[in-house]
Order: sequence, then structure tokens, then C-alpha cells
Amino acid sequence: MSDTGTHDAQSCIVVIFGASGDLTRRKLAPALYNLARERLLPDRTVLIGYGRTEMTDQQFRSRLHQAVAEFSHTQPLDEAVWDSLAGRVFYQRGAYDEAAGYRGLQRRLRELDGQLGTGGNRIFYMSIPPSVVLPVLHSLRDAGALTRRRRCDEAGQGCLRVVFEKPFGRDLESARRLNAEIDGLLEECQVFRMDHYLGKETVQNISVLRFANSIFEHVWRSESVRYVRVTVAETIGVEDRGGYFDQTGILRDILQNHVLQLLTLVTMEPPASLDADAIRDEKAKVLRCLRRLEGEEVRRSVVRGQYDGGVVDGREVPAYRDEPGVEPDSLTETFVALRTYIDNWRWAGVPIYLCAGKRLAERLTEVAVEFKGVPRVLFGAMEGVELRANRLVLRIQPDEGVSLRFVSKVPGLKMELRNVEMDFPYGSAFPAASPEAYERLLLDVMAGRSALFARRDEVELAWEFATTILEQWEKEPPPDFPNYKPGTWGPISSEAFFAEDTVYDSVVGPHPTA
Ligand code: NDP
Ligand code: BG6
Repeated sequence: MSDTGTHDAQSCIVVIFGASGDLTRRKLAPALYNLARERLLPDRTVLIGYGRTEMTDQQFRSRLHQAVAEFSHTQPLDEAVWDSLAGRVFYQRGAYDEAAGYRGLQRRLRELDGQLGTGGNRIFYMSIPPSVVLPVLHSLRDAGALTRRRRCDEAGQGCLRVVFEKPFGRDLESARRLNAEIDGLLEECQVFRMDHYLGKETVQNISVLRFANSIFEHVWRSESVRYVRVTVAETIGVEDRGGYFDQTGILRDILQNHVLQLLTLVTMEPPASLDADAIRDEKAKVLRCLRRLEGEEVRRSVVRGQYDGGVVDGREVPAYRDEPGVEPDSLTETFVALRTYIDNWRWAGVPIYLCAGKRLAERLTEVAVEFKGVPRVLFGAMEGVELRANRLVLRIQPDEGVSLRFVSKVPGLKMELRNVEMDFPYGSAFPAASPEAYERLLLDVMAGRSALFARRDEVELAWEFATTILEQWEKEPPPDFPNYKPGTWGPISSEAFFAEDTVYDSVVGPHPTA
């Protein structure tokens, strides 16, 4: 929850490390442009790209212009808006671990502060592979560009905030190490750990739906809920990020962060206020109670998969092992589905299903809360009636909305019943286009709002959960990869696995919302 509408973002210099990369092109540049277009970007915001690639300011501007024209969700590109932004875009070439580049950067920062009045306010955005993050932080510190500040204008200086992209570490130990290093350099209020799912409009709506309506709270608990299921399904493969993904896998890439963040928002207790820490305290409590899966339990409750090649919609798609940047005998998983529990008073005994996968049948991110069925005494005992339990589905993307399944009488003289859906589609209810997640999140960083960013303990708790699974997997390499066809709902074994105790529908059945 974050009120990004208020105009308290400050003019600042945003330095993107790794600005020649994919994230800057596809997400960051279009987000800054759209904020400028909506007049939400503070007037004197300056962007400096930093990286090893040789580029002039002008070449960097042309590159971003092209990126915005291609990837902005608003089209066509408004050249007047772009021109006003482009005048404040610069590029500084430099290596990540050599002092010379940082001296150049510091010079430029001071010059621009003087010329454009950015008041010493800085955002350092780590859009680089994780291995480069610490060298950059250390070099910034050595150049005198990174200082601990409990609040803006401490010692007459401006704000200094650092954004860390995911993956934040690759297991519990590395995340703890990274956090400890960062803790030695910055105050927690200067640290923004990015999980772009938290900036999505429909993810924001989870808390609104739960806490701005009174009808859900009474039933949002184990007495009424049969299971909770969070699914992040993608139709795409690893695209051009094979090298990164092969070192990562879907458990680290999506489940440890996006899926667990969605789960915490759906299952946390009502926070005492909308303050960042009040919300993050409740999310952390859920993660503390999330049952860790270890040893034999991993074999029983977790399914992993890797996609094979095949034809999808008339198009031949490569097997994961044939993707560029992927090892030909790779054992990296592209699918994971698991069952666990939240061992607290609210959720005791309710199965929690978590599922993420690439090259699946449909692009779909959703949270399903299925309620308990009715006793058979009345309608349940009617012949030929297959009554399905009530289910609330929060559709995060792409068909954003909320739907509730319930049973209705079919009009007519007979007592005939049918399952129907009551649907709230975002698109037609609110015709205005939703902002992209990165727009909201960048603005929040500029305003120092951290509710939509993961706190240190959340990240470590999420890794605690993921790491016991990873450790067990390491001991038992998958014998059957590749084990699912592209364009399906994953390995057949997971279908059987979930069917075991989900009577009404399986996570990876023909369609998870069927
Ligand atoms: P890239 O792999 O495109 O790398 C970004 C830039 O970092 C490169 O252009 C390069 O710049 C520099 N770089 C790359 N590899 C190395 C290396 N081994 N050593 C030193 N510098 C290197 O990353 P993305 O732009 O895709 O992502 C940036 C960050 O954001 C990563 O942490 C990624 O995990 C995360 N992320 C990315 C998403 C995406 O959709 N792309 C989504 C979510 C998170 P140069 O050569 O000019 O120095
Ligand atoms: C990123 C993952 O964090 O999220 C990608 O690294 C994934 O593998 C992407 O494709 C999905 O994001 P979205 O917003 O398209 O659902």
C-alpha cells in the first residue's frame, strides 16, 4: 500500500549502474518517461547512466529514446515530453571497481547539482548482476559518494538512497552476507530492495480488498478456507536471459520473491497502520510461520520441472537446454509447485499451494482462496449436481480483476443448480490505464516511501524457506529433466501430486482457474 499520488517525490540525480542493460531499456527508461508524461517526475530530476560500455551522452539518449519508443506502455511517444527529459540525461563511462570512473562520476554529480539544483539528492540504482553490487558499493564509499544518513539534509546534505534489484543473494547465507555488508554502509531507511510485483496495481488491491471491505475478514481464516493457492505462470521461456536464469532457476527467480510476497499480502494480519514498518512487520510474521520443507518432506511436497522443446500455437519452441546461454545438460528447474502450511492461529491446517513456471499453457498470475464446501444435507445431496465450493480469485495479471464462484439456481420450474462466477474486471470498471509497477516504485524511492520494498528480515526469512528446498535438491539431482511439454501446465507428476488432496481442482490441471 502506497499513496504514490501525493507529490512529495524530490528532485534528485538518479544514477543507474549497468545502464546499457536490458532492465534500463525495457523498464526503467519507459517508467521515467511515463512519469514525466504524467507530470509526476520532479522537474529537475536528472538521469546518469553508468557502465563499461563506451557511449557519449548523445548516444545514450538515442538508445533510451529508441527503448521508450519500443517499450513504453503509452504510445505513440510524445516527442516534446521526451525532449524535456532527454536534456537531463547523461552517461558516464567507467569500470565498476576502478576509482577513475567514480572520480569522473563524482565530478559530474557536483557539476549537475550546481547547474540544475538537485540539492545533493541521489538515488543509486543497482541494475547490474549481483556479483557486481558489492564492488560498486565499495567504490562509491571510497570515492566519498556513499554516506550513512538517517534522514535527508542530515549534516546539510541531500537524500541518498540505493535501490537493489533482485535476486538479492542466492541463498540464505549469501543474502545475510549481503545484508550485513549493506548494513555496514547504509541505514535501512536508505535501502530499497526491489520486488516489482509489489508495485503492480492489482497487488496493491489485495490489501484494499481485504481491509477496506468488512465482509472478508470473518471468513479469511482456517475455519472457512480450504486452501490458498498462488500461481505465477508464464508462457515465455527464458528469452535472452538464459545465462542468468541457468544460474538461478525458478525457485530463486520467482518463488522466493514474487510468489512469497503475494502470499504474505494475502495471509498477513491487518497492520496497525499503513506505515512501511507496520505492514512489513505483519508480512515478516507470516514468513516466520511458513512451514519449512526439509529432507523427505521436499520429496513429498515439492515438484520441480524443466521444459522440453515442442510446438506451441503452431510455432516450434526450443527445449530449455537448447536456449542460448543454457548448459546442454542443465539441471536448472523452470517449474516449481509445492504445498506447505502457515503454522499460526489464522491459517493452521490450511494447505498453501505455491506454483511458478515458464513455458506453461497460459500467462496468468493469480491468488485463489477456496472456501470450504457446504454440508450435503440440502443441495449437495441432489442427484446430478456437482456443487463446487466458493472460490475467490484475485487475478493479478494479465486479465486483472476479482471473481467469486458461487452456486445459483438455473431459472425455470425445476430446482436445477449451477456454479456461476461474479466478476469484477479492472479494465472496464476503471478505464484509465494502470501505471507500470516501475513507475510507482521509482516515485516511491524518490519520496523515500519504503512500504513497497522488502525489508532485510523479510528477504532473509524468504530465503530461509527457499534454502532448505534448494539444499535437498542439491542432494538429489532431478532424474527426469526435461519433464514437461511447452504449452502445458507442467510435469504430470505435479498434477497427480496436487490431485491427492485438492479434491475440486488441481494446481496444474487443464486450467488452474477451471
Ligand atoms: P544485464 O545482464 O543486461 O546487465 C546490465 C549491465 O550490467 C550490462 O549491460 C553490463 O553493462 C553490466 N554487466 C553485465 N554483466 C556484467 C558482469 N559480469 N560484470 C560486470 N558488469 C556486467 O542485466 P539486466 O539489465 O537484465 O538486469 C539488471 C539487474 O536487474 C539484474 O540484477 C537482474 O537480475 C535484475 N532484474 C532484471 C530484470 C529484467 O527484466 N531484465 C527483471 C528483474 C530484475 P556494461 O557492460 O556497460 O558495464
Ligand atoms: C522477473 C523474473 O523478476 O519477473 C523474470 O526475473 C520474469 O524471469 C518476470 O519473467 C515476470 O515479471 P512480470 O511483471 O512480467 O510478471
